[in-house]
Amino acid sequence: MAPLLEASDVHVSYPVGGMFSGRRAVKAVNGVSLQIERGSVLGIVGESGCGKSTLSRLLIGLEQPTSGSVWVDGAPIAQMTRLARARRIQPVFQDPYSSLNPRRSIEATIRQPLDVHGIGTSRERIAAVREMMDLVGLAQRHANSYPSQLSGGQRQRVAIARALVIRPELLVCDEPTSALDVSVQSQILNLLQDLRAEFNLTYVLISHDLAIVEHIATRVAVMYTGKIVEEGETSAVFSNPLHPYSRALLSAVLTPEPGLGIPETRLRGSFPNPMDLPPGCTFHPRCPESMPICMENAPCLQNIDGKSVSCHLYAEQRSSVESPRKQLG
Ligand SMILES: Nc1ncnc2c1ncn2[C@@H]1O[C@H](COP(=O)(O)OP(=O)(O)OP(=O)(O)O)[C@@H](O)[C@H]1O
Ligand SMILES: [Mg+2]
Repeated sequence: MAPLLEASDVHVSYPVGGMFSGRRAVKAVNGVSLQIERGSVLGIVGESGCGKSTLSRLLIGLEQPTSGSVWVDGAPIAQMTRLARARRIQPVFQDPYSSLNPRRSIEATIRQPLDVHGIGTSRERIAAVREMMDLVGLAQRHANSYPSQLSGGQRQRVAIARALVIRPELLVCDEPTSALDVSVQSQILNLLQDLRAEFNLTYVLISHDLAIVEHIATRVAVMYTGKIVEEGETSAVFSNPLHPYSRALLSAVLTPEPGLGIPETRLRGSFPNPMDLPPGCTFHPRCPESMPICMENAPCLQNIDGKSVSCHLYAEQRSSVESPRKQLG
């Protein structure tokens, strides 16, 4: 069976610059391949600007890759209609206020996808909205309210109800709780967890909060400069991160104040300019274990201990394991 969603060597470049600075490109996503199996929760982590949101827009079909392709259940997403995509994949964005129409009542907001997709009779749609409101924990008395009359947490519940009312298979959540008060964040996360079981959902979860990802994701992809540098089962990645960037990032999970964004990684230097990425491994200028080869050759993802890792350290390791055998031969 094909994975529910698959990306194959996707790239996104945005042309920038003008008359004087010349035309250059921001490489936002720089060759990502991934597979999302049914029932999994793929957490995507990495510093601001590493391409998480751009990748999520590709996975929803909101944006076309500059090269590479995205497949839904073995079919190219580029050939699906907007409605066919929406039926299977729904987004949940960071800011529930800007993603809701302020002039549309809560009931009309949640019902809208049923109207657009022509699902059910008018009476069935109203019943489906009521059921969704119950499922996401919104009191029925809010049906005729407007977004401005609700709290941030309630608005995110509305956005989640609207996303789920047409029973999609995959929810792509980009920082679904980071605009909310810390006290409300865990309620929304628990809700997403409960709904996952209730609707048999698959999630992509982008979050700055590594503790949330560790708690909810079944697999984790660590991104740096538009690439996945490490991917694997959550417990394996968190307990034994192999890539030096993952190690720096994940060792800082136990921050004293959760919800304050990605923790300080104590890495030298800063995140590189995406218009002028370093040659070789883009992480080499900040890497505590950089070797001469890292400045020249970009490493490829390879399978190490059941994880995918893109780092020359492990190519070295592999050759050092191979060499005694060669000597024997
Ligand atoms: N429409 C656009 N035009 C030009 N550059 C863009 C555009 N969208 C994103 N970028 C650039 O692409 C890179 C990746 O952006 P993206 O928003 O995907 O990062 P992110 O990992 O989601 O960051 P954050 O954690 O801050 O949300 C950044 O350098 C960003 O400035
Ligand atoms: Mg983002």
